Amino acid sequence: MARPFLFFHLAFALCFFLLIRYLLLADAAVVEHTFHVGNLTVERLGQSQVITAVNGQFPGPKIEARDGDTVVVHVVNLSPYNITIHWHGILQRLSSWADGPNMVSQCPIRPAGGRYTYRFNVTGQEGTLWWHAHVSFLRATVYGALLLRPPPGARYPFPMPHREATILLGEWWNASVVDIERQALLAGGAPNNSVALTINGLMGGYQLTVERGRTYLLRIINAALNYQLFFKVAGHSFTVVAADACYTDPYDTDVIVIAPGQTVDALMRADAHPGRYYMAAQVYQSLANATYSATTTALVTYQRRRQPPSLETPPPPVMMPSMPAFNDSATAQGFYASLTGLLQDGTPTVPLHVDTRMLVTFGLGVTPCAPAQTLCNRTLGSVAGSMNNVSFQFPTAMSLLEARMRGAPEGVYTRDFPDRPPVMFDFTSEAASADSAVMATSKGTKVKALRYKETVEVVLQNTAILGAENHPLHLHGFNFYVLAQGAGNFNAHRHVRTYNLINPHQRNTVAVPAGGWAAIRFTADNPGMWIMHCHLDAHLPFGLAMAFEVDDGPTPDAVLPPPPPDYPRC
Ligand code: C2O
Repeated sequence: MARPFLFFHLAFALCFFLLIRYLLLADAAVVEHTFHVGNLTVERLGQSQVITAVNGQFPGPKIEARDGDTVVVHVVNLSPYNITIHWHGILQRLSSWADGPNMVSQCPIRPAGGRYTYRFNVTGQEGTLWWHAHVSFLRATVYGALLLRPPPGARYPFPMPHREATILLGEWWNASVVDIERQALLAGGAPNNSVALTINGLMGGYQLTVERGRTYLLRIINAALNYQLFFKVAGHSFTVVAADACYTDPYDTDVIVIAPGQTVDALMRADAHPGRYYMAAQVYQSLANATYSATTTALVTYQRRRQPPSLETPPPPVMMPSMPAFNDSATAQGFYASLTGLLQDGTPTVPLHVDTRMLVTFGLGVTPCAPAQTLCNRTLGSVAGSMNNVSFQFPTAMSLLEARMRGAPEGVYTRDFPDRPPVMFDFTSEAASADSAVMATSKGTKVKALRYKETVEVVLQNTAILGAENHPLHLHGFNFYVLAQGAGNFNAHRHVRTYNLINPHQRNTVAVPAGGWAAIRFTADNPGMWIMHCHLDAHLPFGLAMAFEVDDGPTPDAVLPPPPPDYPRC
């Protein structure tokens, strides 16, 4: 009698186990999209403009996934331009092939029907990210939100908001951005300014309706090409809870500062007098003597109780927030320096042992005009962006990652990116801004090779050459800890002791103070080829970039697999 009874129990337990396992596996979903990239005609500022867009939408489609999911995006390029798509902030563990920067992780997807399927896992990431084209200036219109929610059964580390809203901030040109870039490269100088800022692709047309007493999660993304922004909502304040899809300690503020490439998740409580309020985004200019500024708005409207028509009152006037001055660097630095990381059980903390220390100067400089730069001033030369005085040249024959796989970098890249600037000088002095001895920059495709799991500290030091400016530096493939930042020249004796080694916040893009420095740390635990570059698109094609080449690890689960079969070749 006892035997069948035991058997029944065991069978039941087994079924139960299988059911649970099935449910858990079923929870890890495959999120699949097809992106048709092509021309789209839109009306803005009373003019119709042909732009490059995904699936006829501007901004492009929103991708929503949960931690643990696999994202698969089939890109079909029907546009007249070379295309790649980058999943900004996705760590791409063991999937460097899907990262997207042109000629770094792949050759472009060719026009008139080229295809490539990007496939990557979301592992240990939650929050707001975004995707964008990573070739020429096309990301001006080829972008969209990439939202990562907690896995099933998990919660946010803050009170559940009533609703959420995605706020994509952008820039608009009444022209082809590919022509704008081409013009700048021919002339060896700055590209034309945009003519307007946008919120969710619109100038003044977006509206967020709120209910009094409720809390909203604003997922704010700076998709602008060249400008950092101040963001405010009249009559309201925020609690910042995440930046670049990394949770922060709650930080209360009435102004959000956000650089191109960055994201901020902020809770906004609808606790004002029911009415209408502007949300506004305004250029933050860190370059001395710059005069360009722009502002755009959208509406936050309180739901009104239905009234009989006789009692209907006209809507109240709209309140405009008082914005910081467009060159208010103190407000910008105050915001950035106030963020600290949320310590959660089980999540790794900042590495305390550092294997490799680098001091990397970055900014602008000058190179002789190339023959192809037909509009370049031969006496002044061409503007060049550089890191440690190397102006990054994108390879043309094959991508860095493909050359890494072949084990034959010869002719594609060299492993001699320097750990220090070639000459030491007073990086941030007025005198440096026009010193011809330090302005000359040489071109090269130099990478810094890192062993698997090496810990790296990089002090990013802005130079004042051709003007100090706040540059947002973005690292692919990793989140890094921001240990400290400051004005002037970095000085190890004075500044190492200001490092936050307890709860620094993590980011993928750090806005380094104009004429100042930031110290970052990361662990090179992701084999592949990872570009670090300025996220101001005016500087990227001029070479303000470098790349890290990370070795495979010792075990099979730490080796970059071969490229997918449809990997684009040059
Ligand atoms: Cu958001 Cu290299 O890019």
